[in-house]
Amino acid sequence: MSQVNHIGLLTSGGDSPGMNAAIRAIVRTALAGGTTVTGIMRGFSGLLDSEFVEMTPRSVSNIIQLGGTILKTSRCLDFYETEGRSRAAGILKEKGIDCVVGVGGNGTFRGLNLLGKEHGIRVVGVPSTIDNDIPGTDITIGFSTAANTALESIDKIRDTAASHDRLFFIEVMGRHCGALALEVGLAGGAEAILIPEVEVDLDRVDRIVRDGRQRGKGSFIIVVAEGALEGGAMAAAKGIKERTGVDYRVSVLGHVQRGGSPTSYDRTLASRMGREAVVALMSGETDCMVAVVCNEMKLVPLSVTWAEKKDTNLELLGVAEITAS
Ligand code: F6P
Repeated sequence: MSQVNHIGLLTSGGDSPGMNAAIRAIVRTALAGGTTVTGIMRGFSGLLDSEFVEMTPRSVSNIIQLGGTILKTSRCLDFYETEGRSRAAGILKEKGIDCVVGVGGNGTFRGLNLLGKEHGIRVVGVPSTIDNDIPGTDITIGFSTAANTALESIDKIRDTAASHDRLFFIEVMGRHCGALALEVGLAGGAEAILIPEVEVDLDRVDRIVRDGRQRGKGSFIIVVAEGALEGGAMAAAKGIKERTGVDYRVSVLGHVQRGGSPTSYDRTLASRMGREAVVALMSGETDCMVAVVCNEMKLVPLSVTWAEKKDTNLELLGVAEITAS
């Protein structure tokens, strides 16, 4: 076992459901091992402003079921500057914090990596984003909840789409990654799914709608990842209207997908990952991210999370296409 005196804990980047369950697991595992934990408010921004909160077993009571993050979060540009990180390291040292656990995405992990390399602070990352776009881990905290939230909306839209025999374009989150769109497109029975990883072909969507109509289909759901094409679902809808003249409705699900009570899956995942992050530090590890690969806990170098692009499971596109035909 390696000496871990004092852990600084922060959440950073876009919040995702399950972050609180991770905070709870990290705090309680560390305290059970005799390590002090200080919460750092608002991610790296709060660190630079010395916004600290002492964490006790009771300060994480009744949060496992809450969406968002009790530590709050931000996207901090100052942390991309050497000067910002030097200042942060000075603040951490003054506070006696020798390790930092960061819960977030690969922007968070880059910050942790540089803080570790430049200032000798031991760092571990816990992957948490609704996008599930972090290489090295099969799954990230929040994806399951966001997918279920989006799916609930898609199911509701399907009711009204079917009643009016309408064509709906539903935009889900995902600027650079289509994982969420693929998941909910398939599970929601979408006739087409547009994602950033595959060049958008509106002529093809047009054919799907025309052929479907000839085969007696009344309503259509097209799921569009926000980054699939410039202008998102609205642009896709206008493109199809120009081709077919068919009337359409657009629904942008937006930040509703980031909130809400985490699913059982996300709470369990966050608890496992949070505990593992502390165990990793206690075992002397640093500069790594906790990952799940084939349902087993692993540690991967932080650098993996930005050196590669996560593979999107394009097989789901084929499954969605045949099952929605
Ligand atoms: O956290 C990931 C994510 O939700 C993306 O899916 C989305 O593109 C982005 O964050 C939105 O960020 P913001 O909340 O800063 O507008």
